[in-house]
Amino acid sequence: MDDKLWTEVDRFFASTLLPDDPVFEETLRSAEEGGLPPISVSAPLGGLLHVLVRAVGARKVLEIGALAGYSTIWMARAVGEGGSVVTLEIDPHHAEVARRNYARAGVDHVVDLRLGRALDSLGALEHEGAGPFDFVFIDADKDHYPEYLRWALRLGRPGTLVVVDNVVRGGRVLEEGSDDPIVAGTRGTLEAMGREPRLVATAIQCVGQKGYDGFAVALVTE
Ligand code: SAH
Ligand code: DHB
Ligand code: MG
Repeated sequence: MDDKLWTEVDRFFASTLLPDDPVFEETLRSAEEGGLPPISVSAPLGGLLHVLVRAVGARKVLEIGALAGYSTIWMARAVGEGGSVVTLEIDPHHAEVARRNYARAGVDHVVDLRLGRALDSLGALEHEGAGPFDFVFIDADKDHYPEYLRWALRLGRPGTLVVVDNVVRGGRVLEEGSDDPIVAGTRGTLEAMGREPRLVATAIQCVGQKGYDGFAVALVTE
């Protein structure tokens, strides 16, 4: 295990492959200065979200958990002219920092940040007929992940891609029968993904600047 090496490889990937746009660093700096936790996706994972959004031609993206807006910006840069990202955030301070970052990144016209409990906002989105979303990124409170997965199916369509962050958490995902709601929520979500006939899914474990974690990806097939 070599965190320092992992971080250097992430930096190498970022400097070699990712756009050289200061707005990403500025967004992370604003998060740090604002006292937000350092849990934005890594730059390479942000880059993957961007590639995947473009690969499926997603025009309507739904994100659950905005924090400082770092991952939102990667996806907002991928939806193209006329595309949009709806992002759900419960914490007013996070939302304020994120909104400033959207403006700085020039994506504030693309991003619709809904302040409140994600489960409430998801109900409101359905009521408004806001879907179907072409791409869903689940990255908020892990204990509610199983419900967020159900909402992704409800607000998606065949062809919708769903990405779920933090499904490894240093290997804690293996703790069967854990009474930690985070572990239970993550395991329950993976089990539901495996069981769900409308999804084909997989998960990938990662090392990098965020330590040892991973993400799951699922495609809605019917
Ligand atoms: N996607 C971001 C990181 C999100 S961190 C990025 O990679 O840049 C998780 C975020 O989810 C935090 O900002 C937290 O306030 C928010 N959150 C936690 N519980 C929530 C809930 N019930 N509804 C909406 N947002 C929630
Ligand atoms: C945590 C949450 C995240 O979304 C993440 O990417 C890393 C850590 C956390 O709550 O600890
Ligand atoms: Mg995360």
